[in-house]
Amino acid sequence: MPIPLSLYIHIPWCLKKCPYCDFYSIQVHQDNFYEDQYIKALVQDFETDLHNVEQRTLTSIFIGGGTPSLLSPQSVEYLLNEIHKRISFQKDIEISLEANPGTVEQQRFVDFRIAGINRLSLGIQSFQDDKLKKLGRIHQANEAKQSIEIAKSVGFDRFNLDLMYGLPTQCLKDALYDLKTALSFNPPHLSWYQLTLEQNTPFGRHPPQTPSENELWAIQTKGQTLLHKAGYQHYEISTHSKPGYQCLHNMNYWQFGDYLGIGAGAHGKFTTNNGQKIIRYYKTTNIKNYISNHSRLNEMKTIPARNLPIEFMINALRLIEGVPALLFRERTGLNIKSISSALQQARERNLLDKNKKFIKTTALGQRFLNDCLEIFIAP
Ligand SMILES: C[S@@+](CC[C@H](N)C(=O)[O-])C[C@H]1O[C@@H](n2cnc3c(N)ncnc32)[C@H](O)[C@@H]1O
Ligand code: SF4
Repeated sequence: MPIPLSLYIHIPWCLKKCPYCDFYSIQVHQDNFYEDQYIKALVQDFETDLHNVEQRTLTSIFIGGGTPSLLSPQSVEYLLNEIHKRISFQKDIEISLEANPGTVEQQRFVDFRIAGINRLSLGIQSFQDDKLKKLGRIHQANEAKQSIEIAKSVGFDRFNLDLMYGLPTQCLKDALYDLKTALSFNPPHLSWYQLTLEQNTPFGRHPPQTPSENELWAIQTKGQTLLHKAGYQHYEISTHSKPGYQCLHNMNYWQFGDYLGIGAGAHGKFTTNNGQKIIRYYKTTNIKNYISNHSRLNEMKTIPARNLPIEFMINALRLIEGVPALLFRERTGLNIKSISSALQQARERNLLDKNKKFIKTTALGQRFLNDCLEIFIAP
């Protein structure tokens, strides 16, 4: 089976930086949003990357950020057309765009659809105004609700809501209120992330008071039960969907597929045309250099074979149902025998399921994922 190929496109601007976020983006000012130049640079960047994936077909595109909904639909349409001129798209290709409530209105959503976007991901985070304020968000709960209504009304049947829990001052009731409100819109896909206090962010430097371990556990277990009863499949650590609505783009990451990454701060991973090496690469985070083609590529390195097992597992074991054992060889080029003693150890410790046709965590393995992963780190 050929290794699926996706494309990630990074849009590194936001109206305001959120104090918890360490994704690469800068705050937009009147004179630092070089939309047209950036779009042209993206096309050039894509063209340069193309020789690494000759004759292959794209299965998904994800325009993420930052805040891609700051782009005009015309720019998105131009960009997708230019990409399509250079590579073939799988017939049912999934093309997602991340949108922030507060940056969208009805006509833009209509035009994004016309531009070729067929899946929207809305960064809701919470439906409570006091929580949104503490998170430094620019939108309020009513705008979040409006953006969902608009997405549905213009015909996006594939859309995702991003919610976070473990928020400052949040209690169990608050977290369940957010989930229930999300469910009232019947979203086909829901990402429910635990807030991480990332080191290089204002929240990392001055941590706000967040729920205790016990409260978090109650939020997780009660929240998951609620989602399960509402018909959602918990298919990845933080991700739930209605059957058939998994995010194909992220599935490709978790199944250790290939992806090109274009844009300032983007990264990619691909298997060489002869199948002998797996390469990771990173693009510069200097937007001006990126646009002027001054060292767009920051770093490119072959993943050493000894690191492939842990890299594969870090992704595959995020999936609740795991992956077929055969995928290990398909995606890493290594014989599964090379990890047989690690697999055995993880199974003996009840961290991995005993069924050898799959590589899949047990409930214990999910809870202590890091312990399970450690077993696959090269000595
Ligand atoms: C890369 S962000 C971009 C989405 C969009 N700009 C927005 O904020 O709505 C994608 C998602 O990651 C999640 N996220 C960002 N920082 C996080 C953090 N520190 N902890 C947990 N989730 C986080 C948020 O739910 C966010 O919607
Ligand atoms: S969370 Fe979203 S809007 Fe906030 S800074 Fe990060 S990418 Fe930008």
